[in-house]
Amino acid sequence: MTRWRAMRAADLPGMIALAALVHPGLPERIEILAERLHLYPAGCHVLPEARTIGGYLISHPWHAGAPPPLDSFLAALPATPGTYYIHDLALHPSIHGTGAAGAILRPLLATPACHHGTELVAVNRSAPFWGHYGFVPAPGPASAEKPNSYGADAIFMRRPPA
Ligand SMILES: CC(C)(COP(=O)(O)OP(=O)(O)OC[C@H]1O[C@@H](n2cnc3c(N)ncnc32)[C@H](O)[C@@H]1OP(=O)(O)O)[C@@H](O)C(=O)NCCC(=O)NCCS
Repeated sequence: MTRWRAMRAADLPGMIALAALVHPGLPERIEILAERLHLYPAGCHVLPEARTIGGYLISHPWHAGAPPPLDSFLAALPATPGTYYIHDLALHPSIHGTGAAGAILRPLLATPACHHGTELVAVNRSAPFWGHYGFVPAPGPASAEKPNSYGADAIFMRRPPA
């Protein structure tokens, strides 16, 4: 299997194509993903697949209990982050069940950046998947509950500090 590598700006069009496939109801502009890469490249990874992108992970330090609304710019990262935030992990359906998700998640969750806890908004009924990695549903911040942001089935989840 191809290995995960650091994301590059040239990967963004392939990521947008994959996002349209796996998140058809949750569109984000390419500029939003580009800003995440610019602000925190250490949290951005891709799984190259032939000439396209088979998977991507976008994550960054953030304010605890305040997931950014979908398709919104961050402007800047907090000087003193209260949590680490996983914005999205997506794999092409042909790569599901291959272990690719764990290959990027396990090392990420072991980094010092995640030691104060990690948060995300689970979509596409992925909460059981995240539960496998120690995430549990947490009291929902308003932005995670907006049907027009992450969708009606979104679940705010938190992984306690290590
Ligand atoms: C969410 C997603 C990344 C998961 O990847 P995947 O390849 O389907 O997951 P895997 O089958 O590799 O499972 C990874 C691990 O989670 C476990 N797992 C998977 N589904 C599970 C479930 N429903 N309940 C409990 N554990 C589960 C597997 O047992 C596996 O464990 P292991 O690493 O110890 O072997 C993938 O389904 C995806 O890209 N979906 C579309 C995009 C999306 O919705 N992303 C979530 C955004 S919040």
